[in-house]
Amino acid sequence: MNQGKRVGIVGAGNVGATVAYSLAMLGSCHEIILRDNKIDVAKGKALDMSQAAAAVRSHTVVSVAEEMSDLTNCDVVVVTAGSPRLPGMSRDDLLMINANITKDVIAGVAKYSPDAIIIMVSNPLDAMTYVALKESGFERSRVIGMAGILDSARMASFIQEKLGYGGGQIRASVMGGHGDDMVPLASYSTVAGVPLANLLSPSEIQDIVVRTRNGGAEIVGYLKTGSAYYAPAKATAIMVEAILKDTKQIHPCAVYLEGEYGHSDVVSGVPVMLGANGAEKIIQISLSEDEKKMFEGSCNSVKNLINTLNNNNFFNKGE
Ligand code: LAC
Repeated sequence: MNQGKRVGIVGAGNVGATVAYSLAMLGSCHEIILRDNKIDVAKGKALDMSQAAAAVRSHTVVSVAEEMSDLTNCDVVVVTAGSPRLPGMSRDDLLMINANITKDVIAGVAKYSPDAIIIMVSNPLDAMTYVALKESGFERSRVIGMAGILDSARMASFIQEKLGYGGGQIRASVMGGHGDDMVPLASYSTVAGVPLANLLSPSEIQDIVVRTRNGGAEIVGYLKTGSAYYAPAKATAIMVEAILKDTKQIHPCAVYLEGEYGHSDVVSGVPVMLGANGAEKIIQISLSEDEKKMFEGSCNSVKNLINTLNNNNFFNKGE
């Protein structure tokens, strides 16, 4: 029997549930399976979403995996499980807590959905993508972090706000890690093909760069008890759809670098072509000397986190 496309979502909190809701509304897949330790909450959300899907005549069914062993044969597994970022907490503070959660989750994914493409969403994003890659043993094309689409969307919305026009025509570009030293690329950002530098002054562009870097913290500052989820979830759903539909479109995503952009053994955000096999191609764009330096700084921040994990013997434990 052809079972259709199955998407697993580990962590049915705000981000995970909103990813599921986006996919259910789009009818992107046959089945969405939520996995969360709060089983009843997950069951309630799954019923609610299945009913929303019926309301829009979508065929998608949302169900619950009571154990990781129920999360079988998924085509894509989205991992949002982890402690969220709270006010005053950097993404990096979450490192050890979420690395341990990720290790457990990925062991289950690798066992029960061995052919899945993993999309990591948990923070600190680039380091968790690295952990997922190492713990799964999957090839690098099948372990991809969500950040670049989100950060680029934030930059686009700030460009629109600053200009007061151009909404829907903005292509913003952000590379590097999903951290405080991410690399918003004004040089690759346009409004209907018009370079940003022809529309805004250098100081206005710098304002947008700074606000993009702080985009997540700005929202945490308002929400107080949690972090953003609508845009992170939509960005994740865009990646899931690109994979399920094999669109072969270019999106900025976090992937393991093996010499691209001069960096190795680190995960960072770069343009990739997404298709049925995951991150099928890494696109190398030319960067100015300044942009290369910023990208290097961002990669070094992620390497520091990986070093912290190594210094704690994280990757040897339990093996
Ligand atoms: C954000 C947090 C979740 O960027 O990383 O919103």
